[in-house]
Amino acid sequence: MIKGTFPIERFKDIDTPFYYYDTKVLRETLDTIREELRRNPEYEVHYAIKANANPKVLRIISAAGFGADCVSGGEVRAAIEAGFPAHKVVYAGVGKSDREINLALDYNIHCFNVESEAELLIINELAEKKDKVARIALRINPNVGAHTHSNITTGLAENKFGINLEQIEEVIEQAIALPHIEFVGIHFHIGSQILDMIDFVALCNRVNELTELFERRKYPILSINVGGGLGVDYGHPNHKYIPAFHEYFEVFRKHLNLRPGQTLHFELGRSIVAQCGSLITRVLYIKEGTCKRFAIVDAGMTDLIRPALYQAYHRIENISSYEPELTYDVVGPVCESSDVFGKSVDLNTTHRGDFIAIRSAGAYGEIMASQYNCRELPKGYLSEEL
Ligand code: LLP
Repeated sequence: MIKGTFPIERFKDIDTPFYYYDTKVLRETLDTIREELRRNPEYEVHYAIKANANPKVLRIISAAGFGADCVSGGEVRAAIEAGFPAHKVVYAGVGKSDREINLALDYNIHCFNVESEAELLIINELAEKKDKVARIALRINPNVGAHTHSNITTGLAENKFGINLEQIEEVIEQAIALPHIEFVGIHFHIGSQILDMIDFVALCNRVNELTELFERRKYPILSINVGGGLGVDYGHPNHKYIPAFHEYFEVFRKHLNLRPGQTLHFELGRSIVAQCGSLITRVLYIKEGTCKRFAIVDAGMTDLIRPALYQAYHRIENISSYEPELTYDVVGPVCESSDVFGKSVDLNTTHRGDFIAIRSAGAYGEIMASQYNCRELPKGYLSEEL
């Protein structure tokens, strides 16, 4: 998707702001992953629903044969309704409620990724009431850092996620002994927007150490789930829109010693959907400040919170104008100083009514929208329906 290839004429009939999903980019991304999986038949990718749960986007991903990674009962339901088969659904989260666990048991999902001993006991109890056996993997906190924003690292001992290395053997033994639990393997996730493959190599090394130990103890590890986290190039959504899937899967192929019969699971979210999505907004006003020129747009932090929450960079383009560039702060209408999409952004000379595309917004965009200031939630449209 490059500037000029947005269907601007169609946009004119749609209320802004809205999310626009280029399905050509999404399908090409999915095909690239499928190509990698063909080479590694023991690998399975579960799309992380949390990145984007737009039902139309989910349907495309489920139709491409992927599994789903969920973190709430609502996501489990969304996954099943979008056609992901229950036997490819995994469910993580540090605070699963009884209602959510029961729902997942009723759907017979593939596996719960269990994050504490207390949760393990409750799943056993609830499964017993339904006369079922719940398949579980234990989420291990590997104490491996990731070179990413501190709000999105998860695999350090100080984070709330997973079971600590010191406690893990005891919890595995318990899982094996519980009558309504079937222990199938181990789960990890070290963080998100990871671009340095060294972090994944470090994860592989930690997984190898643990699986060797577990092998000596004769624990049956059938599946290893290494979570998600592969980053995308927010700087170049036009010409680097396919993330480094080949390099990523090669890291695991080279560095993770998978035993015969074991399967390796991935939970990719951002890398699947980020680049296909743009937030499309109209310019409301141009305001000349004392030292700044503002382009005030009709999208706000309620529609895309990443810049305000993580100081995240998103490329911003004026897709209506070809006039010479000027520098703008691109801001929204919400009553918060952090409602800024970009400072000192070079845009083609911008006028009221121009369409602005905020790029690489397919992941953690629409799904994190809120109604603060009583604003409406943005809608999402696929390129093929416009
Ligand atoms: N698996 C687990 C257990 C996770 O916690 C996550 C993301 C994923 C998989 C998917 O990670 P991905 O492949 O998308 O990196 N809202 C933040 C990102 C939060 C990520 C939370 N966990 C953002 O906008 O950057």
